[in-house]
Formats: sequence, C-alpha cells, structure tokens
Amino acid sequence: MTARVVVIGTGGFGKNHVRVLNELGSLAGVIDINQEVAKKYGSFYKVDWSTNLDSFNFNDIDGVVISTPTSTHKEIAIKLIEKGIKYLLVEKPFVATLKEATELLEFSKDENVKFFVGFIERFNQAVEISKNYLSEGKIGKPIILHALRVRSWPDRPIDLGVIKDTSIHDIDLSLYLFSSLPKTVYARSGSITHSINEDHATIILNFSEETRAVIDSNWLTPSKSRKLTITGTLGLIDADLITQEVILRNGEGAFLKRIDWKEPLLLELRRFINCIEEKTNPSPNQKDAVLALAVAEAALVSSKNNQVVSIPELLANYHIEDL
Ligand SMILES: NC(=O)c1ccc[n+]([C@@H]2O[C@H](COP(=O)([O-])OP(=O)(O)OC[C@H]3O[C@@H](n4cnc5c(N)ncnc54)[C@H](O)[C@@H]3O)[C@@H](O)[C@H]2O)c1
Repeated sequence: MTARVVVIGTGGFGKNHVRVLNELGSLAGVIDINQEVAKKYGSFYKVDWSTNLDSFNFNDIDGVVISTPTSTHKEIAIKLIEKGIKYLLVEKPFVATLKEATELLEFSKDENVKFFVGFIERFNQAVEISKNYLSEGKIGKPIILHALRVRSWPDRPIDLGVIKDTSIHDIDLSLYLFSSLPKTVYARSGSITHSINEDHATIILNFSEETRAVIDSNWLTPSKSRKLTITGTLGLIDADLITQEVILRNGEGAFLKRIDWKEPLLLELRRFINCIEEKTNPSPNQKDAVLALAVAEAALVSSKNNQVVSIPELLANYHIEDL
C-alpha cells in the first residue's frame, strides 16, 4: 500500500511538504484558502485541489499534513478527525497553546488518531549524530547544552512570537537529547521591532543541579545561524544544524563528522508515510508537543514575571500527568 497524503496550507513551508510528498509518490491533494496557490500546486502536481476542506473528498486519503498558520491547527485537526482521518502530521508547535493541546487531545481520545508533530530538527542528521555521541558516552555526562537559532525578521506573517515559533525547535531538542523534562525554566525576552509578540528570547532549562540548556533565539540577527553545542564532563559536541557537520572533541582528539547532506523534511515525511503504511505509532508525537509547549509557556510566564517557573507545577495545573 502506498500512503495517500493531502497537504492543507501550501504557503511558505507547506509548499515544501507538497514537493517532498510528490517526490515520495504520496501526494494525493492540496487544500489552501488561497485559490491561486491551491490551483497552482494542484495543477502542477496533477492532484485534487480545493480551497475548502469541507468540499474535498477524503474517502481514499490515509493521512493529512496541517501546515496552515498555527492558530488554525486545532480547528482543522478537529474537522479532519470528524471526517475519519487517522494520521495527522501537525506542523510545529502543534497548536497555539497548551490549553488548545489538552482540548484537542480530549476531543480525540476515543478516535484512535495518531498525531505526528513536525519537530523537523529531530530528522537533522547533525542531531542524530549528536544523540548517538551522547548515548555512547563520548563526552561523559552532559552538563550544558547551548542552542543558537537566529535570523533576520521572517518574510512571512507569523501568528506567534519567537518562543513558540522558533525556540520551540530547541526546547524539543533539549528534551529529546537529555531524554528528560526540565524541573524549572527561567527566561528573558522582548520585542525590539515592536511586534505584538516577542522577537528575541533567552531561555534557561534546569534539568538538574548540574545539567541545563540555554536557548537563544531571535529574529534580529542579520545572518542565519542554527547551532548546538553540548559540553560534558569529558568533552564537547559542536553541531551545525545548517551544514549538518558535527565536531566531537574529547580526550581522544577532535573529529569532524562529514556526511552527505540530506533534507530533514524528506526524512521526516518518509517516517510519517512509514507510520501510515506499517500502522506504527508516530515519533515525535502529541506527548512531545505538549511537553515542549509547556516549557514554551513556562518561558513566556517566566519572562513576563521575571521569575523561575516550575514545570511539574505547570503540568499539574493542566492536569497533564497522563499523556
Ligand atoms: N518545520 C519547520 O521548520 C517550519 C518552518 C516554517 C513554518 N512551519 C510551520 O508551518 C505552519 C505554516 O507556516 P508558514 O510559514 O508556511 O505560513 P504561511 O502563512 O506562509 O502559509 C500558510 C498557508 O495556509 C493557508 N491557510 C490559512 N488558513 C487556512 C485554512 N483555514 N485552510 C486552508 N489553508 C489556510 C494560507 O493561505 C497560506 O497559504 C506553521 O504552523 C509554522 O509554525 C514549520
């Protein structure tokens, strides 16, 4: 069986889903409220297209990618679940708030829906190499992770601030690489460009007395950088998420890992299709999304009140003990 997948939202990022799904032989349709783009991609890739999901025929569709603005994800996901779609790839950060996430999960709890969340950096080969180095003990016990993700003002309308839109990638990576949840979060953020939402943020995640992550993100720096540095008791991992090059430094020397660059979205969509075809559980999934959103909301509260926020207390407030 070849999975048949529809993309909803074919804007700045959704058009990449459309291109890659077509390459993988799984593109079955496109939907966008903007008729010009829906028609353009539908005609170019010779698939069904529509401006409205209510008028699209989902009868032989196995999965849907939701790549519309984040504030629309929850409502679109609910409509798709009502139409019987069981595999949803929801773009990061999943939905706009933790409250929306708990409502969507409550709505879907008896529907056997599989949520795959678009934390694309997990499919970056530099992250995979770093994760392997950590589990092989190449830098000993990890102490501090630094994540840098900066660029100039995005040339697309964004309904969220930099923390939920951009830092969320590194929040998810910190939880994934350390395989744990931070106990507390402290953040400072602000808006230099006078947008409604913050455009720069520094977030500290405290995993234990000795282990922490420092996440720096902004939409102010004129050049683009995405870097991860992890310092451990025995060495250092230096990963460039753009070039996918990783340098390991420890007592045995300095080693540059060169690999053939692969598009993370291709690896992500291959995994999504595989989940559908093999009927397996997605990863990253809704649990990863809820935890990353909880940390992002803690960062926003921390920054607003200039105080440390406890993650277990925040999760308990939302009755998120059983995901
Ligand atoms: N994984 C990544 O690296 C990455 C990168 C960029 C964006 N994203 C995520 O992708 C999503 C979309 O971001 P973008 O930058 O492509 O936004 P965008 O504004 O460029 O595109 C959104 C598209 O959705 C369409 N749309 C809006 N409401 C709709 C609706 N109700 N039904 C159907 N179509 C609708 C718009 O017409 C537009 O074409 C966001 O959730 C964002 O966080 C992920």
